[in-house]
Amino acid sequence: MKLLIFGSEGQLGRCLLPRLNGYELVVPSQQDVDFFRADSIAPTIDASQADYVINLAAYTAVDKAESEPELAEAINHLAVIEIARRCAELELPLLHISTDFVFSGSKSTPYKPIDPCLPLNRYGQSKRGGEQAILQHKPHRSIILRTAWLYSDCGSNFLLTMLRLMRERTQLKIISDQTGTPTSAYSLADVIARFLPTSAEGIYHWTDAGVASWYDFAVAIYEEALVRDLVPPGVEILPISSWQYPTPARRPDFSVLDKSQTCEALQVQPQHWRQELRLVLDRMLDVTPVN
Ligand SMILES: NC(=O)c1ccc[n+]([C@@H]2O[C@H](COP(=O)([O-])OP(=O)(O)OC[C@H]3O[C@@H](n4cnc5c(N)ncnc54)[C@H](OP(=O)(O)O)[C@@H]3O)[C@@H](O)[C@H]2O)c1
Repeated sequence: MKLLIFGSEGQLGRCLLPRLNGYELVVPSQQDVDFFRADSIAPTIDASQADYVINLAAYTAVDKAESEPELAEAINHLAVIEIARRCAELELPLLHISTDFVFSGSKSTPYKPIDPCLPLNRYGQSKRGGEQAILQHKPHRSIILRTAWLYSDCGSNFLLTMLRLMRERTQLKIISDQTGTPTSAYSLADVIARFLPTSAEGIYHWTDAGVASWYDFAVAIYEEALVRDLVPPGVEILPISSWQYPTPARRPDFSVLDKSQTCEALQVQPQHWRQELRLVLDRMLDVTPVN
């Protein structure tokens, strides 16, 4: 089977590619197909002669999206209309990654795939637009896979930012009133690979298990990194409220995702986020990060 993967050079793409042994891959870069120019998308799909399309490409700068919403909209929504339309015309299955930020965060129990969406920021609105394009064009066997709080040993993410700051500073103040689930891009990559041979379709959720605040996550990063000698001793981590760290984009207070449909469809169980964090840190000891 031949896979066309958009966004393969991003964080998730770099974790996914090694999981795809046995597939023929077509992996255009942003230079090959720029989603800002949506007219290059259908010809790329046609030329690939792929049997399956995976879209990992996205505009992911959540705060910056508030000041350049047209860019987020072009990449996360308008480009996805083109992908969904062409996949529908060619009867190609499509797996598309979306986000917990499509939800408002007003619930206090995990969000199910069918829960109403009410994004609080421009990034979330543009990602929801992409979802709606897929739901409207209904490509054959399309999967919208929502995830949250993604991190790994490459790219740009909370784990790598924390490790850098823990080496540079003696005190960090981290938000403790937003709750979600840190998710290893490797565990998500594993789930994507498991979906490919199935006939699943619809909206699914995947994160690692458990819940945390950004403060909980930072404390765990520090504890686990300290025992691996990745950070110096003596860094103080203090909890703060969101209002003490204003950001351009509003974020949901609570965005834990209900993964039960994914667990049932794939017969998998997520590991606790702290266990997945240990695995990613161990990887950093073994290999030099790409970035
Ligand atoms: N990161 C998170 O915390 C998080 C949370 C929930 C959901 N998600 C979703 O997970 C998916 C993967 O995220 P990620 O962390 O892997 O993001 P990432 O590291 O920012 O990678 C995004 C990819 O999209 C590509 N891209 C950006 N603009 C493009 C354009 N104009 N044309 C074509 N390609 C473009 C990038 O290309 P370059 O490599 O050339 O820059 C990169 O390969 C996204 O759909 C994101 O919305 C992420």
